[in-house]
Amino acid sequence: MSNFKTPAAWEVSHLKSKHDWVFVITEAEKKHLSASIKSIFTEDRDLFDYSPNEFNFGSSWKTIAKALSQALHGKGLAIVRGLPRENLSHEEFRLLSWAIGLRAGVARPQGLASQYISAVRDAGTNYRAANGRGYSSNAELDFHVDVADLTILTCYNKAKSGGQSMMSSGVTAQNYLIEERPDLAEIAYQYFYFSRQNEQASDEKPFYGLPLYEEENGNLFCNWNRNRVQSAQRLEGVPTLSSAQRETMDVLDEILMRPELMYTMYLEPGDMQILNNYKIFHSRTGYIDLETESKKRCLYRLWLAPPDSIKLPESWRDFYGSIEPATVRGGIRGQSYDKACADFDKNHAKFLKMESERRP
Ligand SMILES: [Fe+2]
Repeated sequence: MSNFKTPAAWEVSHLKSKHDWVFVITEAEKKHLSASIKSIFTEDRDLFDYSPNEFNFGSSWKTIAKALSQALHGKGLAIVRGLPRENLSHEEFRLLSWAIGLRAGVARPQGLASQYISAVRDAGTNYRAANGRGYSSNAELDFHVDVADLTILTCYNKAKSGGQSMMSSGVTAQNYLIEERPDLAEIAYQYFYFSRQNEQASDEKPFYGLPLYEEENGNLFCNWNRNRVQSAQRLEGVPTLSSAQRETMDVLDEILMRPELMYTMYLEPGDMQILNNYKIFHSRTGYIDLETESKKRCLYRLWLAPPDSIKLPESWRDFYGSIEPATVRGGIRGQSYDKACADFDKNHAKFLKMESERRP
């Protein structure tokens, strides 16, 4: 256990005083992107059928690439503002999000239905149920990480109220935990068990074990998801949480939510948020939608394995499938992972000169 003074160890004051994590697409680039997407978009065409070579990002890619790098290798998060939104339909904006993903990495499946892009909208899901997932509910979420190196969220519509995005650095929280409660920090370096929320593939157990923190090669790897830890307590074979573990969970959440550590913001239509899932924990407040269907809160979410990823600790293998650098890893294969998914993974890895997934 050591104190990390890396760029990802930010506090709210750092994000407010230095905006090197906020990137803006120019008006001209926005027009170019909009026209490019409109010229390519074809109704009912499967996203897997679009080739990355079809999209022309023009000079906007330089900006997007810097944002991706800041999220992966720097502060662990980035915002890109000014993606075209006003003149794009839901489907066209979804294609734009997919196109960014095609260029930035290999998209990973995200759940039971093995979907490669999720519409983050309220579908009435019960977040706290054994199979609950946050993205399809309107509930306030616990701080958590997603199941891939990077999460990309593009905002099409805001909610009528609520739906505020919250981010807190797992690295900073670890530093505080060591400083204030070294006894609990030690526990955070031990294994916790997380439910797969009934979305496991046939060769996976319904839960996975992983420490909340692990240090390797000078990097700190952070992992957290209270909902999945609590949910796993109902599964056979999962050890009952000790009172010290429960205290660790409570203290960690308390640290994460301190006003000086938790950064809050609303994503505006046309904003893109990029998160590094082994540095930053994220969440959002509950929300209320507008009545009109087409105006309800809608974000598009990608989980990406980028070509410049670093090696993960061995303990992450069960969670991500592979731990090797520049490898296709992460995601929830779910139960509809078919040949089309496998072909996409393989072919796109090749296109980006990445290693294919190496599941044990
Ligand atoms: Fe998430």
